[in-house]
Amino acid sequence: MKKPSALLVLAFLILTPNVLLVLQRPVTARPLYTNSRWIVDESGQRVKLACVNWVSHLEPMVAEGLTKQPLDVISKRIISMGFNCVRLTWPLFMVTDDSLSSLSVRQSFERLGLFDSVAGIELNNPDLLDLPIIQAYQVVVSNLADNSVMVILDNHLSKPGWCCSNSDDNGFFGDRYFDPDLWLKGLTTIATMFNGTNKVVGMSLRNELRGRKQNAKDWYRYMQGAAEAVHKANPDVLVILSGLNYDLDLTFLHKRQVKLSFEKKLVFEVHWYSFSDGGDAWSRGNPNEVCARVVKNMMRNAGFLLKQGWPLFVSEFGGDQRGTNVNDNRYFDCFFGVAVELDWDWALWTLVGSYDLREGVVGMEEFYGMLDWGWTGIRNSNFLQRLSTIQIPLQGPGVSNLMPYKIILHTSTGLCVHRNPITKSLSLGSCAESEAWDYTPEKILMVKGTYDCLQADGVGKPAKLGSLCTDTNSKWEPISDSKMHFSTKLFNRRTVCLDVDSNNAFLTNPCKCLSGDHLCNPGSQWFKIVNSTRIRSSTTARLRLPSDKDQVQLQISNGAHIEEGRSSQ
Ligand SMILES: *[C@@H]1O[C@H](CO)[C@@H](O)[C@H](O)[C@H]1NC(C)=O
Ligand SMILES: *[C@@H]1O[C@H](CO)[C@@H](O)[C@H](O)[C@H]1NC(C)=O
Repeated sequence: MKKPSALLVLAFLILTPNVLLVLQRPVTARPLYTNSRWIVDESGQRVKLACVNWVSHLEPMVAEGLTKQPLDVISKRIISMGFNCVRLTWPLFMVTDDSLSSLSVRQSFERLGLFDSVAGIELNNPDLLDLPIIQAYQVVVSNLADNSVMVILDNHLSKPGWCCSNSDDNGFFGDRYFDPDLWLKGLTTIATMFNGTNKVVGMSLRNELRGRKQNAKDWYRYMQGAAEAVHKANPDVLVILSGLNYDLDLTFLHKRQVKLSFEKKLVFEVHWYSFSDGGDAWSRGNPNEVCARVVKNMMRNAGFLLKQGWPLFVSEFGGDQRGTNVNDNRYFDCFFGVAVELDWDWALWTLVGSYDLREGVVGMEEFYGMLDWGWTGIRNSNFLQRLSTIQIPLQGPGVSNLMPYKIILHTSTGLCVHRNPITKSLSLGSCAESEAWDYTPEKILMVKGTYDCLQADGVGKPAKLGSLCTDTNSKWEPISDSKMHFSTKLFNRRTVCLDVDSNNAFLTNPCKCLSGDHLCNPGSQWFKIVNSTRIRSSTTARLRLPSDKDQVQLQISNGAHIEEGRSSQ
């Protein structure tokens, strides 16, 4: 990952609150429904779940971070990072085991010897300290709601603690800690408790089913039963079902559909990490080959549900945000391309900057976390920039009445190709304001509504716009297994690929690491050409300056500097 540019970060912080106000339609309508593969509100408009996982299922059973920052500060931080939703985890025994549910927050930490955590809560959230843990959980939900954050309640496991392994006895119906009747009772308790609660839009019935006992027959039996029970207790929530094998496998749904007595509430969830494909697959193989293989598997195991007309909620993905893990970096470059193309609903793992107690370690840092150790700053602003690309809905009911056009996404920056209408030079900028392109059957990339097309000018030279679009340097073929390299031929017949250099300049270079080589990373040359029907936000992002009657458009351009362009519209 590239180093965050201070100015870009600044631009982000300045623009985010203003832009959010106009760009994110306030989600006032509750409850949510499904319409084919889309999640929609009562008026039928798409609501894209752009969630972050907030952990509250470890031994203390208290949402992480409340020992570090005031609750309201955390909720506001979630919104300012562009998330509209939290997947808030809970352990079953928090509501079914009286000896646990009767604990206060203070007692829960003290019994674990976490006296610093008690002091931390006392300092940051004194009102929570002597509440029963279940009430503290309710306060977290209502504070999120007060900040317009939607909440999905996720039954993460039974026995509080880090999840998941094949031998933790929490994995499947009939395991030592997974009694189906007790589970049903706990789900009903939570569903009832939050019936009619503002912003509680969904329940994940059980996270990552797994282990020796797992089988599809029991999955249907218990999941259908629980879905009915939850719906009866709380008819408003979306009922979200996880697959087998750590929620990587929903293939059994190819053959047999879920049968429920109610409609428009069923969502499936799937998880996808770099290690989902076996250890260090990404760093051991050529990234084009690995990406192609992994995406194909993902589509067969879960992605097919979108085509069948079901929403697919990618309720866990994520990786080391320090940018030092090659496996995770390559996975992210591939993941973001698919996530933009399929425009699915998702929840990042995780908000958490550090845990009070995880796997016996006090104060363990979470490098997958959006926040830093102290829950004060953002771990990696470049990563936030990439996320912002998948936070916006590109397609679906109510996004607009426009015919789909194409955007050209560079997956490792999360930026899209823009055109300067005056100089006609091309650069990278926010995908929300992307140029509208056509990708013709002749493989020509035209700026929609013009006669200009994308052309290569030479090795190491900026990609440009030209109008002689029948020339050989105007035809862009998707190549390599991943189909994410776009290649063309120069007049001297040399083949080049679209590329982005370390200054985020958009240019063409010799195509690199197309196959075989596992040491070479093609990430800078990975692009996706995907459908969008979004109305470009440049019109809404215009800010009026008090000293100037003209409207001044602030544009995040190049990912490196702020350009001010005047427009008299
Ligand atoms: C859920 O809440 C609604 C009001 O929001 C109420 O009409 C309904 O009876 C409640 N359902 C149950 C099962 O408590
Ligand atoms: C993109 O939109 C076009 C035009 O509506 C459609 O034919 C095509 O199937 C879409 N592609 C994808 C990947 O959805």
